[in-house]
Amino acid sequence: MLMKKIISICKGDGVGPEVVNEGIKILKVIEEYTEMEFDFREAPAGGTVWKETGINLPEKSWETIVNSDALLFGAIGLPDLPQGVAESAILKIRQGLDLYVNLRPVRLYDSLRDRCPLKDEFIGDGIDIYFIRENTEGLYKNIGELSDEEAHNIMLYTRKGCERIIKFAFEFAKRKGHKKITSVDKANILKPSQLWRKIFHEIANDYPNIQTEDIYIDAFCQWLIRTPYAFQTVVTGNMFGDIISDEAAFLIGSLGMAASGNIHPGKVSMYEPVHGSAPDIAGKGIANPIGTILSVKLMLQESFNQTQIGDEIESAVEDALNEGRTKDIENKNIKTLTTVEMGNLIAEKLKLRLKK
Ligand code: NAI
Ligand code: MG
Repeated sequence: MLMKKIISICKGDGVGPEVVNEGIKILKVIEEYTEMEFDFREAPAGGTVWKETGINLPEKSWETIVNSDALLFGAIGLPDLPQGVAESAILKIRQGLDLYVNLRPVRLYDSLRDRCPLKDEFIGDGIDIYFIRENTEGLYKNIGELSDEEAHNIMLYTRKGCERIIKFAFEFAKRKGHKKITSVDKANILKPSQLWRKIFHEIANDYPNIQTEDIYIDAFCQWLIRTPYAFQTVVTGNMFGDIISDEAAFLIGSLGMAASGNIHPGKVSMYEPVHGSAPDIAGKGIANPIGTILSVKLMLQESFNQTQIGDEIESAVEDALNEGRTKDIENKNIKTLTTVEMGNLIAEKLKLRLKK
């Protein structure tokens, strides 16, 4: 049965347009070989559009986003603009759409083990972790004050905020068949973490088949590089999630490989690579498009409920990595490809898989 979806597209700045074009290429292959059909609608945001209009998220773009089924986002930020001028558009989107789940998978492909900074004994039987970060509360709500003498932010968590993210995490773990879920907090010091931990265990009672563990954030940072194979679903608050997911992204070979979803289940959600606009390599055609392509995978799975097509995208990426690599993950025995060539190779591999 034909399934039509409207996808708003924000390419953004720097390498954003380069990598998003490859994500669209993959969506077009899906259109060609499956029953899905997409209506792509541009919704410019960020520094480039700010220079033209004085606004980083024009009303028209916002309207387009709100009226779409999902948003594919590149990255924003320009080096000749003050920090935040472009980037605050991301927060407007996250807050405006109430995207309370930040989902960041971290999976080390066998063919990229040579790019992992850990020794083999620490990689063990592999790294395959789903980080689920609370995306709307805590310190990043930006409640605070700053003077020359003193500054503070309030780490505010609500029961509603904790419950909805923790429930999402348990449901996610159940769907993935995970045996264990890890909660990361700082309940030995922070009151919001004490509320978080209490709610985590209340909700755990509804999932008797999933083991639980609590780890303090500081200890978790070392366990993540010491026994990364031991984690499956990891749920945590906003700031801790921000920090550990960047640490984790490095374990899979390159920031250019890392994908993310900013999700409100059942509503318009936003999918984007973890990296920024990478001004140092913008325009050179060498950016790795895989973080974006894997974000497309997340869109298919989380927003369009197309798990199988999503899995085929990921398998196509793995197939392609054996034959070609962008510069950030280069290997002297494998051909080095440009952004467009990498996208083409993955598209070819996906066609072969979808044809079957
Ligand atoms: P960045 O992620 O843009 O770059 C960090 C390093 O990773 C650079 O050396 C870059 O060349 C490399 N890199 C990033 N993406 C890559 C890819 N696809 N392939 C190969 N290498 C890649 O972070 P940076 O330099 O701190 O920030 C640049 C701008 O991006 C800033 O304006 C920042 O505010 C913005 N930013 C935007 C984000 C977003 O739109 N969600 C997220 C993070 C940063
Ligand atoms: Mg970050």
